[in-house]
Amino acid sequence: MASVNTNMKWIEAASYEEMSKMGAAIFKEQLKQVKTSVFGMATGSTPEGLYKELVKAYEAGELSFAEAKSFNLDEYIGITPENKASYHYFMDENLFAHIDMKRENIHVPAGSSEDIEKTATDYDAAIATAGGIDIQLLGIGVNGHIGFNEPGTAFELGTNVVELTQSTREANQIYFDSIDDVPTHAITMGIQTIMNAKKVVLLISGASKQEAYERLHSGEITTDFPASALHNHKDVTVIYTGVK
Ligand code: GLP
Repeated sequence: MASVNTNMKWIEAASYEEMSKMGAAIFKEQLKQVKTSVFGMATGSTPEGLYKELVKAYEAGELSFAEAKSFNLDEYIGITPENKASYHYFMDENLFAHIDMKRENIHVPAGSSEDIEKTATDYDAAIATAGGIDIQLLGIGVNGHIGFNEPGTAFELGTNVVELTQSTREANQIYFDSIDDVPTHAITMGIQTIMNAKKVVLLISGASKQEAYERLHSGEITTDFPASALHNHKDVTVIYTGVK
């Protein structure tokens, strides 16, 4: 599909594996250039392959995260890092337990915090203190959400507390025993936080994302479709597979 009305760089990958390798290559290159890089991390099934590639490269001695930092996009509210469905747990399993990034340099919003509003404000301050995010990795929700910024979210928001839509709770139910166990709220980097990243890498994979892919590709910018805010960002690479 030819690129329309957008500055985004669109790269089609032949397979999920190729998408993961292409995405990982951008991360690896950044880390080779700047050892102290700050990465914005995402959860979901889409980036799992990219994380595998990074672990492989670390294990092969190709790179080290010893001086790097990371900030995850989001976390459910009301579940602790030990909960297997938490994003903390996901990140440990898929990446952090397997690389040499220092614990104090790993940040995931504390969804079980007692003062969640303060946690949100402090999160943006911590990102700023770290010098800002060099590369933000993103997946996309079926309704166009990025992080947990659901349709209707103002583009100007920093990290904040959100109520999840029913479609998002249903899509994420696979990680929980039942729909009733899926939290109703989450803490997420806001769209402004994401827009402040120097570079954004968005991965789109699979037929369930066809509609989201098309809508993003159309170039229309609307708060009804949160990912469309990225059309206003100067350095976005979309790597997609399994959509047409
Ligand atoms: C969740 C996350 C998003 C992620 C989305 C898509 O809602 N908060 O950051 O992009 O799911 O997930 P998946 O990659 O599993 O389709």
